[in-house]
Amino acid sequence: MTTNHRIRLNSRPVGEPKAENYLLDEVDLGSPQDGEVLLRTLYLSLDPYMRGRMSDAKSYAKPVEVGDVMVGATVSEVVESNSSDFSTGDTVLGYGGWQEYSIEKAAHLRRLDPEVAPVSTALGVLGMPGFTAYSGLLEIGRPQEGETVAVAAATGPVGSVVGQIAKIKGAKAVGIAGGPEKVAHLNELGFDVALDHRTGNLKNELKESVPQGIDVYFENVGGDVFKAVLPRLNTYARVPVCGLVANYNLTELPEGPDRSGALMGNILTRSLNVRGFIQNEFVEKHHENFLSDMSGWVKEGKVRYREDIRPGLDKTPEYFNDLLAGRNFGKMVVAVDAES
Ligand SMILES: NC(=O)c1ccc[n+]([C@@H]2O[C@H](COP(=O)([O-])OP(=O)(O)OC[C@H]3O[C@@H](n4cnc5c(N)ncnc54)[C@H](OP(=O)(O)O)[C@@H]3O)[C@@H](O)[C@H]2O)c1
Repeated sequence: MTTNHRIRLNSRPVGEPKAENYLLDEVDLGSPQDGEVLLRTLYLSLDPYMRGRMSDAKSYAKPVEVGDVMVGATVSEVVESNSSDFSTGDTVLGYGGWQEYSIEKAAHLRRLDPEVAPVSTALGVLGMPGFTAYSGLLEIGRPQEGETVAVAAATGPVGSVVGQIAKIKGAKAVGIAGGPEKVAHLNELGFDVALDHRTGNLKNELKESVPQGIDVYFENVGGDVFKAVLPRLNTYARVPVCGLVANYNLTELPEGPDRSGALMGNILTRSLNVRGFIQNEFVEKHHENFLSDMSGWVKEGKVRYREDIRPGLDKTPEYFNDLLAGRNFGKMVVAVDAES
């Protein structure tokens, strides 16, 4: 018997999740059945979409039920295998959730080769967030040489890849991030313009430092950043709407006049192409190319990445709040059984 520590959803949060919304418990795990594998979690990915899974509001995916283990992508080691596809000691990408061990169907796992890249990157630059940036930017944003691409949450795993692919495609990259340390990192990554949204002066700073306007705005955050970017969008600008993390902990929309008419007016008069997407939509079309392009770019140093790896499963709820509030610096990953 394997004792498994896990974090379950105890109640649905209102606003920022609190300790009482989770239940940390332990349970004995059985053995893997035919076609299944017992996994020990090495790394758990924390992603903004998990806030949506805690809510039962209608969305593109089913919520986590109260009492269930919180979901999440994981990099794990095979402890026991009841499948001819995997052997003890293999490292795999799966969807084990917020727990130390999981039993998963072999068919849902992908073997990882530590020789290719550190295995934690399968949760970031070489995983779902990197793919989101790649597919959303190339399919919807379609940056052309000489154009200007802007993105916020620009030091995160989605935003940093958007900016670096824009550069590879010959476009100018404008990164928006929270605080001077993150802005300095954007300069190191080769963004042409790096701005801090916390100065409260983003609208004017964009006007001064991006006089040519914006041709592609990859929308990761919404809120005040979107308000500052909207007036800078050029005619025929493309806006892949990837995420609205500024809203995820809101309990209701902020007070104020209804601006939907003005927004639609802007879309009409500047012929904007605003298109939401969820990355799964593009898996069939782009995933194979993504893996080969991105592995090459990472190897050649054309795409660099930063990880924020934190120790200990029990602190995961705290780390998750840090992620939503911008207190992460790079891809947020939990090293599940590490103590420091
Ligand atoms: N559509 C899809 O299929 C898909 C897939 C993956 C991710 N996403 C979305 O992509 C976005 C980025 O995800 P990620 O994993 O790369 O996250 P991330 O950048 O690692 O973390 C979120 C970042 O959002 C920024 N942020 C939070 N509140 C903000 C606010 N009020 N105003 C401006 N910035 C704020 C913070 O960065 P700063 O400190 O720099 O402000 C924070 O670090 C999220 O919206 C996520 O939901 C969508």
